[in-house]
Amino acid sequence: MGKLDGKIALITGAGSGIGRASAVLFSREGAMVAVVDRVPAGGQETVNMIRAAHGEAIFVEADVSKAASVEQMVQTTARKYGRLDVIFNHAGIQGAIGLPTADISEEDLDLVLNTNLKGVFFGCKYAIPLMLKQGGGVVINTASILGQAAMAGGTPYCVSKAGIIQLTKQVASEYSRFNIRANCICPGLVRTPLIEPYFEVFRIDTIPIARAATPDDIARVALFLASDDSAYITGAAIAVDGGCTAEAKLLLKE
Ligand SMILES: NC(=O)c1ccc[n+]([C@@H]2O[C@H](COP(=O)([O-])OP(=O)(O)OC[C@H]3O[C@@H](n4cnc5c(N)ncnc54)[C@H](O)[C@@H]3O)[C@@H](O)[C@H]2O)c1
Repeated sequence: MGKLDGKIALITGAGSGIGRASAVLFSREGAMVAVVDRVPAGGQETVNMIRAAHGEAIFVEADVSKAASVEQMVQTTARKYGRLDVIFNHAGIQGAIGLPTADISEEDLDLVLNTNLKGVFFGCKYAIPLMLKQGGGVVINTASILGQAAMAGGTPYCVSKAGIIQLTKQVASEYSRFNIRANCICPGLVRTPLIEPYFEVFRIDTIPIARAATPDDIARVALFLASDDSAYITGAAIAVDGGCTAEAKLLLKE
C-alpha cells in the first residue's frame, strides 16, 4: 500500500530537480500527479518517466508568477481528477546574486519576488478554496535555509524565501482548523540544475553531513509532509540541510 494511494497531487516546478524527484516519488506512492512547469519539455519528460513506471500523471503548463496561469493550473487539475489533495508549491528561481542590497534593481527584485513569493501565494490562493470545499488538503511550500539566515549578495532570493516561511505560518494558522495543513521545507544545498553553474564554489566540507543533498533527500521529506505520517504537523519550516543551520560557521585557523 502506498502512502498517497488515491490522492491527487499538484507539483509546480516538476520539470526538473527536486520537483521531478517528488513527482516520481509521489506517483510511486500511489498519487495521481499534475506535473506543472513553465517549460513543456521538462514537464513532459517527468510525465513520461511516471507513465513508464505505470503511474498516472498529466502535464500542465503554467507560469506561477502569473495569477491567471496558476488559477488555470488548479482548475485544469480539478477538472481532470475531480479534486486536489496536495499542492506542492515548489517552483522557484535564484535570480541575480552577488549584488549588495543598495545595488539591486527594482526589476531584479520583482522577478524573484513574483516567481518565488507571489507564485507560492497564488498556489495557496487558488488551491485552498477547492480544499475547503472538499473538506481538507495539504499545502507544502519550498522555502530555503536562506529564508532563515542571510547570504550576502542574495537579498531578493533570501527575502522571497523568508516570505514563504511566514506565508506558510499564515496559511497554517488560518486553515488548519478546516483540515488543511501547511508546512514548508527549507533545503540547504541540493545538487540540481538550479545551482549546477555555481556548484564548485560551495564549501561542501562546511556541511556537517559532508555532502550536498540529492533531489530525493528533499522529495522524501515532501512525501512525509504530504502523507498522514505528518498528520499533527502544521505551520512548520523543516530544515533539510545536512546540519548547516545547526552549526555556527566560525572557521578555526589550521
Ligand atoms: N537546489 C538547491 O540547492 C535549493 C536549495 C534551497 C531551495 N531550493 C528551491 O527549490 C526550488 C527549485 O528546485 P530545484 O533546485 O529542483 O531547481 P530546478 O531549476 O532544477 O527546477 C526548478 C523548476 O521550476 C521551473 N520554474 C521556474 N520558474 C517557474 C515559473 N515561473 N513557473 C513554473 N515553473 C517554473 C523550472 O522550469 C524548473 O523546471 C526553488 O524553489 C528553490 O528556491 C533549491
